[in-house]
Amino acid sequence: MSETETPTDIASLEPNPDVEVAAFTGDYPIIIKGLTNRFGKVAVHENLDLKVRRGEILGVVGGSGTGKSVLMRSIIGLQIPDEGTIEVLGHEITGEHADEVVGIRNRWGVLFQGGALFSTLTVGENVQVPLKQFYPELSPRLLDEIAIYKTILSGLPPEAAAKYPSELSGGMKKRAGLARALALDPELLFLDEPTAGLDPIGAARFDELLRELTDTLGLTVFLITHDLDTLHAICDRVAVLADGKVIAVGTIAELLRSDHPWIQEYFNGPRGRVAQAARPLQSAGLVPQGNAASERAAPAGPAAKPLDKTAQGEA
Ligand SMILES: Nc1ncnc2c1ncn2[C@@H]1O[C@H](COP(=O)(O)OP(=O)(O)O)[C@@H](O)[C@H]1O
Ligand SMILES: [Mg+2]
Repeated sequence: MSETETPTDIASLEPNPDVEVAAFTGDYPIIIKGLTNRFGKVAVHENLDLKVRRGEILGVVGGSGTGKSVLMRSIIGLQIPDEGTIEVLGHEITGEHADEVVGIRNRWGVLFQGGALFSTLTVGENVQVPLKQFYPELSPRLLDEIAIYKTILSGLPPEAAAKYPSELSGGMKKRAGLARALALDPELLFLDEPTAGLDPIGAARFDELLRELTDTLGLTVFLITHDLDTLHAICDRVAVLADGKVIAVGTIAELLRSDHPWIQEYFNGPRGRVAQAARPLQSAGLVPQGNAASERAAPAGPAAKPLDKTAQGEA
C-alpha cells in the first residue's frame, strides 16, 4: 500500500490528484481510483481519484451538491459505486469485496452532516450505541466509564454524559457527536461539516480540539467543510471537488497556484482573503506544531502557516 510520490511541478495544477509537490513516503489509509457514482442518468462523480495520507487532516471542499457527502458515504461503504475501487485500511470495500467493510467498520468513526444524536438518549447513551453494537459483551459499568471518558476527551464536562441533546448548546452537541464518533478508538475519522451552524468562536474551539485529538490519537481525518477558517487553521491539505472529480489536492498555498476559477474564487475571493489574513491556530500556539502527515510530507510542512510569498514559494 505504501507508495512513494515523486516531486512534481505543481505550477500548472493538472486535474489529477496524484500530482503533489512533496515526496510523501507514508501510507494511504484511503485510496480511491476511478470512482463513478450515478443517480439515474446524472453522474455525481466520474472517474474520481483521491488518496488520503495517514495522519493528515484532509479538508474536502466543493460547491453545494458536488458530491462531498456522497463521497464520504462511498468510502464508508454506505453508497455502492457504479465504477471504481475504494481501498480503506488495506481492504478493498467495493464490488465483490463489499463484505470486507463489515470487518473494518469498527476502525472508523463518523459524524454525519447535521450530526444527529438520538434525542431520546443521553449523551453517554449515545456514545454507548456503537460500543454495544461492536462489543456486546461489555458490562454496563464499563460502558458508562468509557462513555464518560469519551465525553471528557471531546471537551465536555463529565456531567454532560447524563444530559439529553435538547439540554445542550449547538457547540456541545457537536462535541457529543464527536465523542460518539470516537467511541471505538477509530483510526479514521469522517466529519461532514461539523462546524456548520456554530458561531465563529465555537467553531474555532472545535477546530482546535480536532487538531489536538488528531495529533495525540494519531487519527487520519476526512473533513468536509465550507469553513475557510477551518481549512486555513487545521487542515494539512485540501481536496477540491468539482466537475465530478477531485480537481486538485494540496496545501492551500499549492492550491492558490491553480488558475481554476472555482479555486481562485473560493480561496482568493473576499471571504478567502479574510481567512488567509486571520492568524492560524498553529502560529498562535494553540495547537502543537507539526503532525505525522506534514512531517513526513516535507518540504510541504504544516499547512497552517501564513500564506505569504515565502510560504507559497516553499510549498
Ligand atoms: N440517495 C440519493 N439519491 C439521488 N440523488 C442523490 C442521493 N444522494 C445524493 N444525491 C444527489 O447527489 C448530488 C451530490 O449530493 P451530496 O454529496 O449530498 O452533495 P454535497 O457536496 O453538498 O454534500 C446532489 O445533486 C444530490 O441531490
Ligand atoms: Mg453534504
